[in-house]
Amino acid sequence: MPVLRSRIDPKSDDYKANYAHMSGLVDKLKEELTRAHEDRSDKAKARNAELGKLTVTERLDKVLDRNSPFLEIAPLAAHDMYDGRIHGAGSRAGIGVIHGREVFISANDPMIKGGTIYPMGVKKTLRCQTIIMENRLPSINLVDSGGAYLPMQSEIFPDVDDGGRVFYNQALISKMNIPQITAVMGLCTAGGAYIPAMSDHVVHVQGTGAIFLGGPPLVKAATGEEVSAEDLGGAKLHCSESGVSDYLADDDAMACEILREIVSMLPAQKQADYPRRAPAAPLYDPREIWGVVPPSLSTPYDIREVIARLVDGSELLEFKQLYGPTLVCGWAHIHGTQVGILGNNGVLFSESALKATQFIQLCDRQGIPLLFLQNISGYIIGRDYERAGITKDGHKMVAAVSTATVPKFTVMCGQSFGAGNYGMCGRAYSPRFLWTWPNAQIGVMGAEEAAKVLITVKNDQLAREGEPPLTSEFEEFIRGPVKQAGEKEGNAYYSTANLWDDGIIDPAKTRDVLGLALSASANAPLDGRDQGHSTFRM
Ligand code: COA
Repeated sequence: MPVLRSRIDPKSDDYKANYAHMSGLVDKLKEELTRAHEDRSDKAKARNAELGKLTVTERLDKVLDRNSPFLEIAPLAAHDMYDGRIHGAGSRAGIGVIHGREVFISANDPMIKGGTIYPMGVKKTLRCQTIIMENRLPSINLVDSGGAYLPMQSEIFPDVDDGGRVFYNQALISKMNIPQITAVMGLCTAGGAYIPAMSDHVVHVQGTGAIFLGGPPLVKAATGEEVSAEDLGGAKLHCSESGVSDYLADDDAMACEILREIVSMLPAQKQADYPRRAPAAPLYDPREIWGVVPPSLSTPYDIREVIARLVDGSELLEFKQLYGPTLVCGWAHIHGTQVGILGNNGVLFSESALKATQFIQLCDRQGIPLLFLQNISGYIIGRDYERAGITKDGHKMVAAVSTATVPKFTVMCGQSFGAGNYGMCGRAYSPRFLWTWPNAQIGVMGAEEAAKVLITVKNDQLAREGEPPLTSEFEEFIRGPVKQAGEKEGNAYYSTANLWDDGIIDPAKTRDVLGLALSASANAPLDGRDQGHSTFRM
């Protein structure tokens, strides 16, 4: 296979400036992740210890294989929302390994407002269930939650994508024959009681775990009956009388051990047969990506320099290298698995869109997963391009991305604007996983462009009414808030807080993250490849 030769000079001033900038962004990311994992009040820590519970991190450590990789999903969900301390939207979740087998594991954090469920917590759970279903991963739940965060109950209860959907999905997951295993390590109240009830296996910790449709305060208010949580829904009652739970555990550690034993009994499963070869490291250190990516999103860089630091042996067989050069398409391997890569090298023209369409079709037919490296300001605009049919060529690319059935993976490497986000497999195009680099920006268009559009619209309106155009002061009055909102809401942290991605990642770790995600995705078969595409407008 042809080998990519880097033109980057690690001794150059540009490289050093880029490196320093990205290193600052990665340091901030590490700080935010540490805060999300460790920032808990002394009161909550003391209460957890008093109840004899392990922390969420300790629970995850005990359930998952020692020294095995853990691909955490949405660790910064709800970042800066609510009181700024509902870290990870109140839970930790991700893909880990038990007895050598990949599983999806979710754990409420009782040290964050009693593990209660905020609106973003529901969104995160639904995203986790999508990952479970698309990748057919056994689902492990460590439940310890006060249920709905009551002051916001109207925002998490009634709609189609609110709390009820979680249990609806559990029924679908079960129908798909995906194992669901729950450890009751704290409260499962009201709707939360259905998490264990709808699981295949329920482990129940004596003394702290309780399952009931109405907790002691509600029972007292409704019927006057005074009953303790243990007597109402504790492990002994549910393991010996009601049959709601299956395995009694004396404490958290024992529950973790029982979970591991249940997983060890599951039948083996690996289904997608992607083309593979022996893995090899890239010729260039992935950390050098820090020196490749300029601080300003409008400064172009060659996406091949990134690809050379992601793929095995830095080898890339480029497809149509001389045609539509603003999109690099080609085949490579990541940790041994073949992928079809599409990476932006400028604005998308008709040729680049047509090339992408053909390339996506080829990968889809050959069962090769697709990797999109997004750094895109959009499709080309202007009269000549409209005449030449950029809209119908862009449509073909968007249609091919939408209907491709092989797993798709997207990494936001810089800009993600306009329909470029769609054609390059943004969140709405159902990539199996989507990650954001800390420098990335997302939006319908850049903040400056959005402000210019609004000023033009206003001036056109004034002209129609026979009024003079906006003064520069009034222009600033429009531009200021639009730019401010664009910069805040286009930011990677805003994106990850809202679960528009599966997490912000250090660019240097992209190769390993993709390797884990490709492996996880292979738990699901490659389905529906002969069902064809939508109509292509010619
Ligand atoms: N909604 C909003 N806040 C809640 C809550 C709920 N459902 N359940 C607990 N909290 C808050 C508490 O007010 C407290 O907040 P604070 O730290 O700001 O004081 C925090 O979560 C921890 O609760 P606390 O009771 O001090 O901790 P605990 O470990 O002793 O008990 C629970 C935790 C979840 C077992 C207990 O709070 C409880 O029973 N909650 C109500 C459960 C319920 O009936 N839910 C029904 C909703 S469907």
